[in-house]
Amino acid sequence: MIDMKYVIGIDLGTSGTKTVLFDLNGTVIASATIEYPMYQPQNGWAEQDPDDWVSAGYQTIRAVIQKSGVSPKEIAGVGISGQMHGLVMLDENGNSLRRSIIWCDQRTAAECVEITERVGYDRLIAITANPALTGFTASKILWVRNNEPEVYAKCRHILLPKDYLRYKLTGEFATEVSDASGMQLLDIPNRRWSDEVLKALDIDADLLGKVYESPEITGYINEAASQVTGLTVGTPVVGGAGDNAAAAVGVGVVADGRAFTTIGTSGVVFAHTDNISIDPKGRVHTFCCAVPGAWHVMGVVQSAGLSLQWFRNQFCQEEIAQAKQQKVDPYFLMDKMAAEIPIGSNRLLYLPYLMGERTPHLDPDARGVFFGLSAMHTKSDLIRSVMEGVTFALTDCVNILREMGVRFNEMLACGGGGSSSLWREMLAGCFNLPVRTAKSKEGPALGVAILAAVGTGIYPDVPSACKAMVSLNEPQLPANVDSYKKAYDVYKTLYPVLKDSFKSLSALSI
Ligand code: XUL
Repeated sequence: MIDMKYVIGIDLGTSGTKTVLFDLNGTVIASATIEYPMYQPQNGWAEQDPDDWVSAGYQTIRAVIQKSGVSPKEIAGVGISGQMHGLVMLDENGNSLRRSIIWCDQRTAAECVEITERVGYDRLIAITANPALTGFTASKILWVRNNEPEVYAKCRHILLPKDYLRYKLTGEFATEVSDASGMQLLDIPNRRWSDEVLKALDIDADLLGKVYESPEITGYINEAASQVTGLTVGTPVVGGAGDNAAAAVGVGVVADGRAFTTIGTSGVVFAHTDNISIDPKGRVHTFCCAVPGAWHVMGVVQSAGLSLQWFRNQFCQEEIAQAKQQKVDPYFLMDKMAAEIPIGSNRLLYLPYLMGERTPHLDPDARGVFFGLSAMHTKSDLIRSVMEGVTFALTDCVNILREMGVRFNEMLACGGGGSSSLWREMLAGCFNLPVRTAKSKEGPALGVAILAAVGTGIYPDVPSACKAMVSLNEPQLPANVDSYKKAYDVYKTLYPVLKDSFKSLSALSI
C-alpha cells in the first residue's frame, strides 16, 4: 500500500485561487496562486467568470505538484474552500450559462421582497436562519429568472463557485452543508434542502447538487481532470467548506468558546456553536459549520480588506511605487503611515459600506463615508481611519454575538488584515479581548486540507486533525480600550442618521 503523506487545499477566493499542498502536520510544501478579475458592470453589481476559477484551479494544482516534486500517488485527497453565495448556472452539457453573480453583488433588493412575500418572514428565519439577503444565492436565482428568462430556461444545474470546480474535477454535482447554508435554500437546523422554501420559490430541487457533510468524500478525480492537473485518477475530493467555515477549521475554531475574525475582502466575526442559535432579528448568519452536527454564528462586513484595497488602488500610487523599489508590500508602508496617527485618526471616522452592508444594518443602499474631514488631515489619517472604521464595523458584529449569549474569551485573527499587528491591536482594543494568530497563514486552504485528511481516514475527526495540524502564536493583549470605545461610540451614531440619505442617494438619477 502507498504511504499517503500529503493533502491538498484549494481556496477559490474573490481576488484569486490559491492551492496549497500540505504534509500531515499542516506544513506547507508548495503553494500557487492565480488572480482573476471581478467585473462591476453597474454600481453595486459584481460578477466573475466561472471558467476563470476552473482554469486557476487546474493551473494551481498542476503548479504545486510540479514545484513540490511529490508523487501524485502520495496525495491522499483534495479539499475545496470558496467564496460563498455566488450563482453558477449550467446548461444540460455542464457549461456555464452566464458570468457568476457573486456574493457582494447588491442588485437583488426586489427579489428579496419577493422571497419574503413567498416564504413569509418568520418561516424564512426559522428554516434558513436569515432574512432574505441580496448577498445570498436564492435572490440571485430569482433575479436571473425575472430578468434573463431565456438563461433560466436553459439552466439545468445550479452550483456554488467551489462546487463548479468540484464538478470539473470529479463530474459530480455536489455541495456540502456549510456553503449550502448561504444559498438560503437549506433547512439549517436539519442540514438538508428545504422542500418548503424550494416549493414557495418555485425552484426545482433537481437543479441543486447533493448535500454532504464537509469532511465526506463527494467524488474522485476523473480522467479529464487528471490530464490537466497531474492528480491521480481516483484521488478523493471531500466536501470542503465555504471560506469562513474552512478558515475556522484552519485556525482550530472547532469547539464552543472559540471564535475568529477575518479581514479579507470581506470581514467576518465567526463563533462556533454546538447548539444552534438564531438571531430573531436576522442581523447575523447562523450556518452549518464544517464540524458534522455543529453550527456557527457569523457577522459579515461587506467591505473590510476591500476598503483598504480600494484606498490603495485609488490614492496610493506613490506608496505602490516606493514599495516596489523597497521590495515590500504597499500595505506594509500604509500600515507604517497609519501607526504614526493617534487613535481616532484626529477625529476622522470612516464607514466601510462600499458595497452596502450586511451585519448589522442589512442595507444594500448604504455606501462608504469619511466623516469629519478637515484641511489638517493627511493621507496617513485617512488610511488609519479606514482601518479603524473596518474594526468598528467588526465590533458591531462582536456586540451582536455577545447580545445573543454566544461566549468567547479570545479572538483568532485571520486574512490579509489579520497579519497586520496594527490591525490586530485595533481588534484587541475594540473587542477588549486577547487576539492571536495561527502559525499557518493558510486559514481556508489548510482548513479544507484538514477536512481531506479526515475524510480519507488519516485522522478520526475534525478536532483531532486540528490538534495535529494547527498551532497558534502567543496572544496580543487588549490596550487603549477606553480610547477606542470613545471613537466607536461616535461611529455608532452615524449610520442611523444617514440611513434615509443612503436610500435617496441610491434613487438619485441625474
Ligand atoms: C460570507 C460572505 C463572504 C464570502 C466571500 O457570507 O459573503 O465571506 O464568502 O469571502
